[in-house]
Amino acid sequence: MSSQLTRRDWLRASGLLTAGLTTGLRFSKAATSTIANQSVFVDEFSALRDAKLVSPPDTMPKLRARLFANENPLGIAPSAKEALVKAADSGNRYAWMEFAQLKQLIATDEGIKPANIMMSPGSSDILMAAASHFAKGGGTILTSAMTYDDLLERAQRQGAKIVAVPMTKDYKYDLNAIKAKITPEVKLVYLVNPNNPTGTVVPAADLEAFCREVAPKVPVFLDEAYIDFYEPAERPKLGKLVADGQNVILARTFSKIHGFAGLRLGYAIAQPEMLKTLKPYTNGEFAVSITTLMAGIASYQDKEWQNHCRAENAKARDYTTKALTAMGYEVIPSAANFILFPIRMKTKAFENQMFANGIGIQTRDFNGQPYCRVSVGTMDEMAMFMDGFKKVVG
Ligand SMILES: Cc1ncc(COP(=O)(O)O)c(C=O)c1O
Repeated sequence: MSSQLTRRDWLRASGLLTAGLTTGLRFSKAATSTIANQSVFVDEFSALRDAKLVSPPDTMPKLRARLFANENPLGIAPSAKEALVKAADSGNRYAWMEFAQLKQLIATDEGIKPANIMMSPGSSDILMAAASHFAKGGGTILTSAMTYDDLLERAQRQGAKIVAVPMTKDYKYDLNAIKAKITPEVKLVYLVNPNNPTGTVVPAADLEAFCREVAPKVPVFLDEAYIDFYEPAERPKLGKLVADGQNVILARTFSKIHGFAGLRLGYAIAQPEMLKTLKPYTNGEFAVSITTLMAGIASYQDKEWQNHCRAENAKARDYTTKALTAMGYEVIPSAANFILFPIRMKTKAFENQMFANGIGIQTRDFNGQPYCRVSVGTMDEMAMFMDGFKKVVG
């Protein structure tokens, strides 16, 4: 895929937007570009997600287990549902107090000021805004190989150069190697913790030390989409970096543990000047509806539901990890709601056969090795996944 092609261009060129697709998508080598040569994947997961969305339902076998988008299989909190229904009565009003209320809740938890927070409809908007801003006029975005590519792909399309540093052998960020690549051309460092698609984490102290050393020279963007899957006692508390005046941007989403992937809610934590810089690239906070905000306020405070989702996720993740390990697969230990592991079939054949069995997953080649990334669903879905997997790999 040419790096000049957008995701939609590519899907259109592939006939996917017009013809739909029959089973899973194949991207791997055919879809790689210059950043993939540095072993960052190019838009594969998101292209797959889009293709599923545009695919007419009758062209795809009905999925029994939808395990390709790292969604919360348990849905939104009952308290959030109740808030949504109540919010319907406020649908004629612009949200004011609700922004202030949610920001205050977050600010209190993080030890920051409400002025350090910008709300958005999902964190993708924050990622895209940062991509557009830091790509302006060229320059380099420094990251790791095998990480989430939405920001990188957008930045590359807008003229940025992407430098992706190889991971360690155990699929972790090599922070020292990343630091060594900082040059005056680097405009942004982009890290994801826990990382997608590997599910691996950087120890909080290492990440903090990295930011304190690097951020005075170049802004650090920490994508914390999966942070809520940490046990609360172990969760990195990097809001304090922002409170200390560091040039760090934290991106958070309600799409994962809160189950708001469809409702759309996220936010950035950063210095007020940085938020002001990024804002013109967004549609503004009013892109978030009052219904989503009110549900978000309820969900944010519903620690019981979050604990429940985290515990169920850990249970189903452990079950799947053990089942795959027992079959001789080397599963990368995951701290998130998905698992990545090397497979012994070609990605296309594997993915197509899994979809034919009603199991939606994603696949990827990294350095010529095929991998499966499976989202953690309910226990029933993971049992279905294992059944399908056994059938497919024989
Ligand atoms: C690492 C990472 N960052 C950001 C996002 C964006 O999520 P959303 O726009 O739904 O908040 C995702 C979505 O899967 C992700 O995996």
